[in-house]
Amino acid sequence: MSGKFITFEGGEGVGKSTQVKLLAEKLRELGYKVFVTREPGGAELGEKIRSLLKASTQVDPICELLLIFAARRDHFVKLIVPHLENNEIVICDRFYDSSLVYQGILKNVQVERIMELKQMTLGYFEPDLTIILDMDVEKSRKRLAERKLIADEYDSMNAEKHELVRQGFKKISEIFSFRSVLINAGGSERNVFSKVFNEVEKRILNEALKV
Ligand code: TMP
Repeated sequence: MSGKFITFEGGEGVGKSTQVKLLAEKLRELGYKVFVTREPGGAELGEKIRSLLKASTQVDPICELLLIFAARRDHFVKLIVPHLENNEIVICDRFYDSSLVYQGILKNVQVERIMELKQMTLGYFEPDLTIILDMDVEKSRKRLAERKLIADEYDSMNAEKHELVRQGFKKISEIFSFRSVLINAGGSERNVFSKVFNEVEKRILNEALKV
């Protein structure tokens, strides 16, 4: 696969979708072919599973994990791989690190089980770069409260759980330091974006990727 795969991770309300959008715009301006996607979701089956998960309450953590990985496998086979084979930069809002944090750390599903599913569905595939946005929990919760959206289970977590998620992603940045970078997302959108772009420029961009 000759393209590049960039994932964005982090807790709720840290500004992932804004940074995904800014990065895609900038890369397109520079002449790269970009495909933007998200998880859970992506392809048809994945989007249906996303709707099911969002509409369901009190789903058993193992069921949730299996559904998420089923969606991920569908997404991987139908969208991620074909776009990478087409030499594109694929930007994905959340990927399997989110399963390690939400289902693993938050809901106590054993990491070994999650990694078995990862191996079954993705093999040795890994993102080329994972950008983890990190923000003070008080600030991200304030931003969530200001959004006029219907909150799902994870949006409406208490501060303690938000902190657990935050620390979980920090741990991910240490464990997978070969592919990930932790970025302080507490500044202005532009300020955060300049840090994001700097990492992408350093680690991902090359002339062979241009259209
Ligand atoms: P979001 O698009 O608003 O980030 O919503 C996705 C939600 O799904 C988010 O709260 C985290 C959750 N999630 C998991 O629990 N496990 C996963 O593997 C992924 C990708 C997302």
